[in-house]
Amino acid sequence: MLNLRKLKKFYKNKKVLITGHTGFKGTYMCVLLNYLGARVYGYALKPEKGSLYDLLASLLVKNEVFADIRDEKKLTSFMKKVKPDYIIHMAAQPLVLRGYEEPAYTYDVNVLGTVRLMEAIRKTYNVGVKHREPNGEANRRGELREPVSILNVTTDKVYENNDLSNYAFKECDKLCGRDPYANSKSCSELVTYAYKKSFFSDEKYFRISTARAGNVIGGGDLNENRIIPDCYRAIKNRKAMLVRNPKSIRPYQYVLEPLIIYLNILAYQKKNVKYAGSYNIGPDKKACLTTRELVEKFFEAAASPIRVIYNRQKTTARHEASFLRLDNKLIKKTFGYKEIFKMKDTMRYTADIYLLMLKEQHNKKVFTTKFIDYIYKIFDKI
Ligand SMILES: NC(=O)c1ccc[n+]([C@@H]2O[C@H](COP(=O)([O-])OP(=O)(O)OC[C@H]3O[C@@H](n4cnc5c(N)ncnc54)[C@H](O)[C@@H]3O)[C@@H](O)[C@H]2O)c1
Repeated sequence: MLNLRKLKKFYKNKKVLITGHTGFKGTYMCVLLNYLGARVYGYALKPEKGSLYDLLASLLVKNEVFADIRDEKKLTSFMKKVKPDYIIHMAAQPLVLRGYEEPAYTYDVNVLGTVRLMEAIRKTYNVGVKHREPNGEANRRGELREPVSILNVTTDKVYENNDLSNYAFKECDKLCGRDPYANSKSCSELVTYAYKKSFFSDEKYFRISTARAGNVIGGGDLNENRIIPDCYRAIKNRKAMLVRNPKSIRPYQYVLEPLIIYLNILAYQKKNVKYAGSYNIGPDKKACLTTRELVEKFFEAAASPIRVIYNRQKTTARHEASFLRLDNKLIKKTFGYKEIFKMKDTMRYTADIYLLMLKEQHNKKVFTTKFIDYIYKIFDKI
């Protein structure tokens, strides 16, 4: 694994295009890439007011477009202007419950959004089928001095999950998410595979991987129906907190953990195509927690006396897998991956940033300075 010192050498002045840069992971990715000295370009919907990106915006990305991922014209035109060295695809409708409420929208953004991204890459480099170029034009791949390195960020939910306790999903397991969100991400994997095989198979020009990460936590996520953001809202509104499925087991990681691995995959595959593939990103078995344990640890780290009500019965109205664990042997073997953030530190960092948000949410300047200072200290330590 390349640590941050080595990643700094690798990414300095490199052009990295992030889709979904205004979201939770996207914001942290922008902060990390700025620290590494990369040139960051973003394409996403406008940030929500009060979101982490909104609070930090002036510092993060100078070259960005706020538009829909399905708007192929805008995306292609931006990509042609940027000609990125690296592309990280994170723009998505990422919520399981919203997937149940708006299945068509979820498929549209997550599946056709991936198709549109692949089309934008294809049009930027005028890549046709095999060696026959579209419209008889010359291909522009020859302009590439180095291959473009691409990563599609999907999820640990892409696998067919029959709630088999103790089973850890391997990369070769069947892709068939059970709910619309999970399934749309399985489809996004398949779309990536088809484009890779049909259009981007020339390894001299393109290297593509997918990354299946588990749930992440970190200060500043405000998404609905996610457990830690719900805890934060309970503190903010001084209200009791209801935990729907306290016994569910999830492979939680600190938000920076998968982001550092994403950058490793992109860097490794850029150097050698043998690293282009599909990777599970999750913690070791001992680091998997029940939702109840997670909530307790968070409130302890935040020193907050919120009343928590644990649902005794499993919520069945909407199926959510009660057990989900990934086999992470492949990233260990391929990149020499070792856990970067211990759960205790994860909780500390997460709680500290939420508490900072609570205190300084109306003062963007102070929040930004303190946030960057805090996160850069973490970077310097690892
Ligand atoms: N957060 C997690 O625990 C987690 C776990 C596994 C996988 N993921 C994946 O990581 C990625 C980022 O997740 P997140 O938690 O940061 O989500 P988020 O909701 O905070 O951010 C989503 C981003 O996608 C953009 N986006 C959404 N719809 C769009 C559209 N139609 N057009 C253009 N941009 C659009 C948003 O503007 C935002 O920038 C997603 O692909 C998600 O599926 C997240």
